[in-house]
Parts: sequence; structure tokens; C-alpha cells
Amino acid sequence: MTPRTPTTTSAGAAGTSGMDGIAGGAEVAAATSAPGLALDRHVSAADRAVALARDVLTGLTANPRELPPKWFYDATGGMLFDEITKLPEYYPTRRERAILDSHASDIATACPADTLIELGSGTSEKTRLLLDALRAAGGLRRFVPFDVDESTLTQAGRSLIAAYPDLAVHAVVGDFERHLSHLPGGGRRLIAFLGGTIGNMQPAQRGGFLRALREQCGSTDALLLGTDLVKDPDRLVAAYDDGAGVTAAFNRNVLTVINRELGADFDIRGFAHVARWNAADSWIEMRLRAVRDQRVTIDSLALTVEFQRGEDLLTEISAKFTRDGITAELADAGWAVTQQWTDPEGDFAVTLATPSTAPAAAPV
Ligand code: SAH
Ligand code: TRP
Repeated sequence: MTPRTPTTTSAGAAGTSGMDGIAGGAEVAAATSAPGLALDRHVSAADRAVALARDVLTGLTANPRELPPKWFYDATGGMLFDEITKLPEYYPTRRERAILDSHASDIATACPADTLIELGSGTSEKTRLLLDALRAAGGLRRFVPFDVDESTLTQAGRSLIAAYPDLAVHAVVGDFERHLSHLPGGGRRLIAFLGGTIGNMQPAQRGGFLRALREQCGSTDALLLGTDLVKDPDRLVAAYDDGAGVTAAFNRNVLTVINRELGADFDIRGFAHVARWNAADSWIEMRLRAVRDQRVTIDSLALTVEFQRGEDLLTEISAKFTRDGITAELADAGWAVTQQWTDPEGDFAVTLATPSTAPAAAPV
């Protein structure tokens, strides 16, 4: 295993030689992939390999089998997700953008932050609406996109620097379930967590995450949370099982990641994409179903796993919320809702919350 090196440059950096973007004093590997782009790396390639190996070992030997969703997102996964956001069936991105379009200035008025942090930032496309509104409100100095996928992050960082030359862009490669204590501090911070990504965590994880984030925040900081809302199951299922098969390709991409990074031999065509609505738990489940009996070997783990025909591997949940449910979960984690907006159809919600003065409920 290679140790972290202080100035490793990301793969996408070929041709740029500027050192001027290196974040001074970062206690982690810092690299620059574009002039002006500061980048802290809390997840090195070695950390990633260890974490993936651990998750795959745990998940594939569990009954039923499951994998955590963050491993969908390598460069290909990021591109496929971007395609998903443009599919006719996948309404959440358009609905959330509509809400931000109408209310970004209300958000900026309620929290005129000097730093916008975005967790699970991906391409940060919709986020530009927030950047514009916060700039118009006067005080925005810094944008901190935070994502586990370095390739998407550096690409987004580059185009943001080009579009906002007077903004300090400080990218952070990290896992929002492990590295929240490394969020840059200082000033007034608005922390955006969009795209319904919070719904991809299990309820207990979600609570832990919201509490941990609350711990990191001062009284003037605020959280902007995007969540998908409960609706007609047919529309929900269609959003996760599109006619063009992009979501299926995205789901199967996790097997490609495991093949490449852990020397496994999953036959990608041996697994079918399944999306189903779990009404009891109020979430969509994404599964990969073995279309025949098969044996998979994972070299790095010295592990062989057998799949029986029809056996499922749970790869993702996407929880759907109610407006009151969001407010209650936030309250349990020490957040008070200031404002909440939905699109005219009531499909998606964006909630602004601040640290509440009342002590958070004890974890159950
Ligand atoms: N916010 C964007 C992207 C959503 S896709 C939007 O609304 O369109 C989810 C993003 O979260 C991906 O970019 C993925 O790489 C990132 N992500 C998933 N799990 C993560 C984790 N544990 N830590 C940090 N980023 C994560
Ligand atoms: N946060 C997105 C969501 O829950 C992620 C997502 C969209 C997703 N489509 C997907 C994850 C398909 C896995 C498979 O809507």
C-alpha cells in the first residue's frame, strides 16, 4: 500500500503545472488539478481500496447481500448519474432545480453566507443558482464542493473556477460519513446537501449523519437539504427504471468498479437491474438480480461467492419523505426548520434549517 504523498496530482491534471492552488497547511494530501483549484484529499487511492475491500467483504458475505451506494461513483458512474438527471422519467433533478430557481434569493437572504459547502456535490450544476444568489446577496467568498469521487470533483471545480473567477474554490475529496470534521471552518457557512442523497442512507445512518453535521456547525451556519417526497409508486419506480436503461447501466457499474479495483470476475450481463417500491419503509430499492447460478471470485479478498439464480444484491435505497417527517428528523438531530419549499407539483422539498438551541434528542 502506498502511503499518502503530499503533492500527488490527480489523473485529470496532465498539462497543468501551477502549484499556486495548493491549499496551504492542509493536514492531508493536497493537490492542484487546475490553476486556482485548491484540493484536499481525505481519501487517497489506498484508503479507497481498503474501504472498498472492507465493504465488499462485509456486504457479499451478509445475508441478504448488499453493497453501500458510494461505490457507484467512479468516473463512469458520475457520467451515468449525470445522464440519469436528464432522463424524462427522473424528475427529482428538474424539480429541485425549479425550487432553487424560484427561491435561491430567499435562501441567500435567510443565510447570507460567505462560504457555501456542498456535500456530495457531483457536477454542482444546480448549485450555480445558489452561488449566483449568494453573490448577489453580497458576501460569498468561497465554495467548497465535497465529494468522494475525485474525477467528477476536479472537473466540476475547473468549470466553476472558469465561471466564477473571483470565487475561491476549495474542493474536498472525502466521505461525508467519515470526514465531516474536516469541513473548512470560519465565517458563516451554508451547507447544501442536495439531490435527495440523504435518502440513500439507512434511517439510523441518516440520524447519525445529521447529528454529526450539527456538531460541526456554529449558530450562524445553516443546512439546506434536498429530499424527494412520497408520491405515486408508478412514478417512483419509473424514475429508477428508465426506458433507455441508463439506470440499469449505473446500477451494474458497481460490479465493474469491483472487477477493476478488487480483481473480481463478475459477469455484468449475469445481473438484471431491479427497482421496487418498499411501501413499509417508504423507499425505493435498487437491486441486482442474478439471472442464473454463478460463482464470482474476488482476487484481492481471496473470496469466492456463489449466487443462485434469482438471488438479489441490494445496491441502493432511496428514501422518500413527507414534509413533516423531514422536520421531525431534523429536530431529533438538533436542527430547527426555518423554511421549507416544494415545487408546484409537490414532488420534491428543499428545507432550510439552523442549529436549534434546544439540546438534540439522545440517539435511540
Ligand atoms: N448533488 C448532486 C449529485 C448527486 S449524486 C445532484 O444533486 O445532482 C450523489 C453524489 O454524492 C455523487 O457525486 C457521489 O460521488 C457523492 N457521494 C455518494 N456517497 C458519498 C459519500 N459517502 N461521501 C461523499 N460523497 C458521496
Ligand atoms: N440520490 C439519487 C436518488 O436517490 C441517486 C440515484 C438516482 C440513484 N438514480 C439512481 C442511485 C439509480 C442508484 C441507482 O435519486
